[in-house]
Amino acid sequence: MAIDFLKVELQKYLNLIYSDDNHLHEAIRYSLNNKGKKVRPLLLLLLLESIELSSSHYMPLAAALEMVHTYSLVHDDLPAIDNDNYRHNRLTVHRQFNEATAVLVGDSLLTDAFLEISKVTTLSADQKMKIVSLFATSLGSRGMVYGQSLDIEYENKAIDLETLKEIHLNKTAKLLTIPFKIIGIINDDEDNSLYEEIGTNLGIAFQIQDDILDVVSTFEVLGKSTNKDVAVNKGTYVKILGIERSKEELVNRYEIATIAIKKLNLKYDEDILNFIGYLIKREL
Ligand code: IPE
Ligand code: IPE
Ligand code: MG
Ligand code: MG
Ligand code: MG
Repeated sequence: MAIDFLKVELQKYLNLIYSDDNHLHEAIRYSLNNKGKKVRPLLLLLLLESIELSSSHYMPLAAALEMVHTYSLVHDDLPAIDNDNYRHNRLTVHRQFNEATAVLVGDSLLTDAFLEISKVTTLSADQKMKIVSLFATSLGSRGMVYGQSLDIEYENKAIDLETLKEIHLNKTAKLLTIPFKIIGIINDDEDNSLYEEIGTNLGIAFQIQDDILDVVSTFEVLGKSTNKDVAVNKGTYVKILGIERSKEELVNRYEIATIAIKKLNLKYDEDILNFIGYLIKREL
């Protein structure tokens, strides 16, 4: 199914969740209605279709993924973390509203995501429990939040490639692995090593591209400040390896992920492979 259609359906669903007439819902709608790529939910919906499941039944799950991603960005932009004023070519949530609102937008999105997971009617209670556990472990103090904590700790500090990999794995790859692991849960696969291999390599490649774009792109295209990582001396692949070797590492990881996806023997993997190709070559 066309990606553009799925993206519109997802946006409609998100708007429905947050339709109350109050300040908090207004700020949450602002955070979600953006020109972001929505890659995590789209990956999930494409993967579901590749195993012949109707994506329309899984909109709450796709929404939950975008909600936790958006929460991570709203908090990432806060003055106490990356202190960014712009995202998606407009003011960040704490600049458009205020810091307290941005904190509460993040709190709401994270909490409400779990409510959305509970709403999927085509999954068993056991499958939903596994998905709740997957979200919590991928996001919490041994997942994305841990990665963000290391990311801050290593600003202005010497960093080796192993530590940097640990940061990228946690802050970005764990969230991008969720769509693949959900397929493992639905398929009742005991061994999730292939899903892990795909998500980890794809996720690290995705963050390497983000780090490269920070250096080579422009504010107009990216919609967020550029040259930000050098300014605060962040640990990035570009800082350690330079642009050319970072690109090589990115292509290398993309190829590992592609080979692993083919091993999944999905009924239709063409849309997934095209989408992943676009993620790695993307300019924003
Ligand atoms: C940005 O993620 C933060 C990273 C984990 C690199 P995306 O590039 O997916 O953000 P949007 O939602 O499309 O702007
Ligand atoms: C953010 O990484 C990863 C998250 C968990 C949100 P960055 O800090 O590099 O993302 P951008 O560049 O602000 O989008
Ligand atoms: Mg950050
Ligand atoms: Mg940031
Ligand atoms: Mg970045």
